[in-house]
Amino acid sequence: MSKTDSTKSIKSEVNDSCQTTLSFFVGNIKLHAKKLFEGANGSHDWDHTMRVYKLSKHIGAAEEADMDVLLIAAYLHDIGRCFQDESFGSVCHAEKGAQMAWPIVKGLPLSESQKENIIHCIRSHRFRGNHAPNTVEAKALFDADKLDSIGAVGVARAFLFAGEVGARLHSPEVSIEDSRPYSKDDTGYREFMVKLSRIKDKIQTKEGRKMAEERHNFMERFFKRFLEEYEGER
Ligand SMILES: [Fe+2]
Ligand SMILES: [Fe+2]
Repeated sequence: MSKTDSTKSIKSEVNDSCQTTLSFFVGNIKLHAKKLFEGANGSHDWDHTMRVYKLSKHIGAAEEADMDVLLIAAYLHDIGRCFQDESFGSVCHAEKGAQMAWPIVKGLPLSESQKENIIHCIRSHRFRGNHAPNTVEAKALFDADKLDSIGAVGVARAFLFAGEVGARLHSPEVSIEDSRPYSKDDTGYREFMVKLSRIKDKIQTKEGRKMAEERHNFMERFFKRFLEEYEGER
């Protein structure tokens, strides 16, 4: 074996062993994160995290993201969720999650910039205030999280959430402007009108936009038919 070949083979062995070590850490992160969702409501539970993980894989590959950064951030992105719920919204789960994630992330066999990027992904996935996602990984995670709120899964989640707050199936006699969150009128249709119908315009990546367009069109078709069936027209 030539000197160059043997250097290459040593490098690839070192890379393989780093990857094995990282996989071990990532496995533990997944178990730790999953535990934090015990008892969570179905609309914002660990299953959501796993759907975001799969969407992140898809978008991240298309956008050539650093998958180590993106997939660790996907597992951790909502770990602060229960603190937001318990505080009735006064704690931001993205900010809290970023604080909770640092002790977990700091010991990983990754570069400092990768670790900072993971924290940035978590902090900016909600895109509130001045925390805009500004790396390709943060944009991919943001899109993955938003895509899980729209399309067929988005409609299903909207009705699941409406059930959790005790809302009706539909409140045609109350205008959307007069209906209040967490009330009997916080229906799946209200969620679509107030929030879900606007999500596609916030998407950050090219692949995300393609998927969001399709999911958005499906929701429009679904709710058009829903209203027609509700009124006995079809
Ligand atoms: Fe979130
Ligand atoms: Fe999320």
